[in-house]
Amino acid sequence: MASNRQFRLAARPTGLPTESDFTLTETSVPAPAPGQVLVRSRYLSVDPYMRGRMSEAKSYAAPMQVGDVVMGAGVGEVVQSQHPGFAAGDFVYGSLGWQEYALAPGESLRKVDPGAAPLSAYLSVLGSTGLTAYFGLLDLTSPQPGETVVVSGAAGAVGMIVGQIAKLKGCRAIGIAGTDAKVEYLVQELGFDGAFNYKTEHDYVAKLEELCPNGADVYFDNVGGAIADAVMAVLNKGARVSVCGQISQYNNTAPEMGPRLLPVILTKQIRVQGFMIGGYASRFEEGRRELAAWVREGKLKYRDDVVEGFEHLPRTFIGMLQGANTGKALVKV
Ligand SMILES: NC(=O)c1ccc[n+]([C@@H]2O[C@H](COP(=O)([O-])OP(=O)(O)OC[C@H]3O[C@@H](n4cnc5c(N)ncnc54)[C@H](OP(=O)(O)O)[C@@H]3O)[C@@H](O)[C@H]2O)c1
Repeated sequence: MASNRQFRLAARPTGLPTESDFTLTETSVPAPAPGQVLVRSRYLSVDPYMRGRMSEAKSYAAPMQVGDVVMGAGVGEVVQSQHPGFAAGDFVYGSLGWQEYALAPGESLRKVDPGAAPLSAYLSVLGSTGLTAYFGLLDLTSPQPGETVVVSGAAGAVGMIVGQIAKLKGCRAIGIAGTDAKVEYLVQELGFDGAFNYKTEHDYVAKLEELCPNGADVYFDNVGGAIADAVMAVLNKGARVSVCGQISQYNNTAPEMGPRLLPVILTKQIRVQGFMIGGYASRFEEGRRELAAWVREGKLKYRDDVVEGFEHLPRTFIGMLQGANTGKALVKV
């Protein structure tokens, strides 16, 4: 059988990761023990949270260790199975890691149907980024028809779904993204009511006031930092903030200073709540069902930004952290 290429963490990154933080190793393809399944990776996911797992800082999940195969989700095809629930030829979703072949306990895998949706969609709109948008918006902020929803990281995997769900709920959707092409895509292709490029726009508050003449009622925060500070300034009384991610801070080597926001939260009676999508596991089926129905009915668009070639995993991950992707960043193995 072929050999198994794997990317391992070579060093803990300082600031923005570099390709030398990863090392490509080769080993033989393992055979499954009883209860295990051998999966050949088809698509591997690169996600912002992985940056946190590469650092030693205390967080909500244990860090990777130097020398470990880089962790991450993937979809693949079962090659051999020693688990009664799976047979060769099945397609599965699981924590495959950055490797061409993964051994996984059967209980950790979920079957996916390549006939119902493209395989890559199980890592995007029908996977954890779609579910993050769904629960993070609907459960935490209850957007009401006529309200204005602002989302940052708007052209990314989570953000583009958030804005479209806001539209489906009868809201105005305003996006913030890092290139003019992304801004145009949000408005022209996805039906956002407005968007701006935070890299060329310098007065975020003035731009938000222009795009949200009645203020904003919901903010879905993917990025934190100065963008989040500016959105806080245009929130209405009773606004809700879903704190999903803080990507502008993930490569910082020292904490950034910001304005004191609690007085605004107090006087405008704003509800700010963080969440981890894993906490919604018992409701994933409900979310997947509704997301899949919207996609089927043509009400929800998604985009998978697929880079071909296993060897491009590190550079695709680093590129995603810098905004190279529109939609879900994935590598086709
Ligand atoms: N809470 C949860 O359970 C959960 C689950 C999944 C994801 N998340 C979080 O959700 C956010 C989006 O994740 P995703 O998977 O959808 O990634 P993504 O948005 O597809 O990709 C990351 C994007 O972040 C933007 N970005 C990078 N640096 C930035 C900066 N300094 N300021 C503003 N934007 C910046 C880039 O787009 P631009 O071109 O616009 O800069 C880049 O494309 C992340 O913060 C992630 O950690 C949270």
